Amino acid sequence: MPVIPAVFAMPTLTKGVKDLRENLLDLREKTERLDVSESRRKELLDGVSNFAGKALDKLQEGETAVYSGAGDTNNNTDSKGIRSSPIQDEPLDLDNILDLYGTHIEGRGLRAGHGGHMAYVPSNGVFPAALGDFLADTLCTYAGRAYESPGGVDMNNMLLEWMAEVFGYPEGFQGNLTSGGSAATVIAMATARDSRKGLRARDFHRVVVYVSELTHHCIRKALHTIGLGEAIVRDIPVDSRWKMDVKALETSVKNDVQQDGLIPFAVVATVGTTDVGSVDPVDAIADVAERHGLWLHVDAAYGGFFALCEETRPLFRGVERSDSIIVDPHKGLNVPYGSGVVLVRNGQKLHLSNTAHKQGSYLYHPRIHSGVNDTQVSPCDLSFELSTHFRGPRMWFPLKLFGVETFRSMLTEKLQLVKYFYHIVEDIPGFEVLQEPELSVVAFRYRNPPCGLDANGFNKRLLEEMIQDGGVYLSSTTLKGTFYLRICVLGFRTHIEHVELCLEILQKSLRKLKGCLKLSNESLVKRL
Ligand SMILES: Cc1ncc(COP(=O)(O)O)c(C=O)c1O
Repeated sequence: MPVIPAVFAMPTLTKGVKDLRENLLDLREKTERLDVSESRRKELLDGVSNFAGKALDKLQEGETAVYSGAGDTNNNTDSKGIRSSPIQDEPLDLDNILDLYGTHIEGRGLRAGHGGHMAYVPSNGVFPAALGDFLADTLCTYAGRAYESPGGVDMNNMLLEWMAEVFGYPEGFQGNLTSGGSAATVIAMATARDSRKGLRARDFHRVVVYVSELTHHCIRKALHTIGLGEAIVRDIPVDSRWKMDVKALETSVKNDVQQDGLIPFAVVATVGTTDVGSVDPVDAIADVAERHGLWLHVDAAYGGFFALCEETRPLFRGVERSDSIIVDPHKGLNVPYGSGVVLVRNGQKLHLSNTAHKQGSYLYHPRIHSGVNDTQVSPCDLSFELSTHFRGPRMWFPLKLFGVETFRSMLTEKLQLVKYFYHIVEDIPGFEVLQEPELSVVAFRYRNPPCGLDANGFNKRLLEEMIQDGGVYLSSTTLKGTFYLRICVLGFRTHIEHVELCLEILQKSLRKLKGCLKLSNESLVKRL
């Protein structure tokens, strides 16, 4: 046990207090190992860095499949997955820990960092983001309040200001770095709710929210979360380009205005629908919102950072007129998962929505309460969160290290890769492509499957066959009852070779599937 002399003038201690001190010295020795020494730090860093580096090398060299069957099991131990080593009292050594991670996490399921990942809305996770997290986490910075970390809050705010500028928001906005687009939507919708004069909980069932057929379901989830689950959500039809039909929106709002008792409340415009990558006509929607006093929310979770690219910039007309915007750095900037953003045009509304209630008295700070002006609004007053991960560095570090121009080129590459894919698939006999991509999503399907098979069923099997190959990972969508395969090219690691591989796998899978069907058809005919 260490001998630690007391640094204060020790009074005569009773036996009980003496024992307590002895006990504390004993516990100190046991817990001290949490404060990792320099040599051990180096050992841990080297071990983790080697492990992650090897996995990353394999991704970069295309040596691993994009997907390893999540249910793959080799033996009884593996069948328990990560649970084969339960959380227990005894420590485990680094090699074993990394082995568990490698086998059960890195080695199973989707490798999201793979260039062949073109499903859903992918992010490959730029490496320096991890170093930003490392800095934030090593020093355990708390950037929820300006007094605790003026620099950290400044960094978060600088990032928000940069994004607000990208979208053309004027001064006076406020925002927050969130865990993702869904959390950002909750904050935006809660602000809309709290900003609506005279709106009471007893009116919620009369509130009407206008979305398009293709609006992301996070809106409905957010409404539910903020107590507006009873609100009427109108699915406004889309036009031939899969954009919200503004005339239909206007008609719908007018009808509701005339209906006694309904409260037309908010409209959601999407810049980059998840299903097909279409962009709603935000400017025209803003006109409707203005005429009828609706809160205009822009969901730019997927498409937002394409505002950086010259060729897609015009699609953002009107976004600056919105009341709130969400965007996901863990999509367009390829920061690892866990990075969303909400911006509210009138920052006071966001502030009020999150401060119009009693604050914990334990948060008293002498400087704040002695009238010293806080020059920055604290993030905890602009969100439902109090303690959060310090999210700024994971975005700031890559942006500083690479510069915005690198991201602009990366996003331009994605736009062009998907165009390239579109033009080639369009020319493959039998395929139908939904429409020329506006952003980086293309939906397509095989139109006339053999043996009179149902097209939806056939395309589902085609998708399965492509995923089985392991070279690329795609997903799908169903539009007005028709099943489509879909690629979304957004990962920074996805380049022309991945798109060409995807085309090869598409044709190979098609041939294989047709071959199987032909065989099973022939054997069926023989049996008859
Ligand atoms: C258009 C759109 N909005 C919102 C979301 C939800 O964002 P998150 O997954 O970050 O919660 C997504 C996710 O893909 C999206 O594509």
